[in-house]
Amino acid sequence: MVQIAPSILAADFARLAEEVARVEAAGADLLHVDVMDGHFVPNLTIGPPVVKALAAVTRLPLDVHLMLEEPERLLPAFVEAGSAGLTVHVEACRHLHRTVQAIKAAGVRAGVALNPATPIWLLQEILPELDLVLVMSVNPGFGGQRFIPSTLAKIRALKQEIAARGLSVAIAVDGGVNATNAPQLREAGADILVAGTAVFAQPDYAQAIRALRG
Ligand code: DX5
Ligand code: ZN
Repeated sequence: MVQIAPSILAADFARLAEEVARVEAAGADLLHVDVMDGHFVPNLTIGPPVVKALAAVTRLPLDVHLMLEEPERLLPAFVEAGSAGLTVHVEACRHLHRTVQAIKAAGVRAGVALNPATPIWLLQEILPELDLVLVMSVNPGFGGQRFIPSTLAKIRALKQEIAARGLSVAIAVDGGVNATNAPQLREAGADILVAGTAVFAQPDYAQAIRALRG
């Protein structure tokens, strides 16, 4: 069954603990934490202290999406803060293999994210090393953007590649995911749906999560 990872980017930051408790009670599987550095993406969000504070108030695994240049510099801080998984962008890593090995050596799930214009064949060599590929279905930096439809074909191709090579790599999709495109995303092979607006901007979080899960 598909897993649902609400993105706290769309939560009320002034009441974060309460928001997290609500999505946990509503049946979320993971909590997606968007970290932005103002360089790799044109926006700034949160860092390790907030991840640490979240880890103290939830049992949900923290799926931390690092939209950072040179993410390797901050890996130890995010691991120590209590991340369950760290996802770095292929576009932001000069030595991706080394960065992925550092994440795995720290004992957390290793993910690599692809921007919409980045082809899946860039993962050809690294794929067997990964726990997760995060397929961006918007250009990263902001919540509430419109889903890019070509993502569906990208997920299908990636799913096929993973199956053909007999690997067990999860596919997550992030950006503009909603109850309307969720059935197509599940059918295309997404294992994890990340959703900000489609959960936190809805009146009933449990109903929103059920609608995404199908
Ligand atoms: C975008 C972030 C997403 C974002 C998704 O840069 O990586 O996780 O929060 O928000 P929605 O679901 O509103 O597109
Ligand atoms: Zn994200």
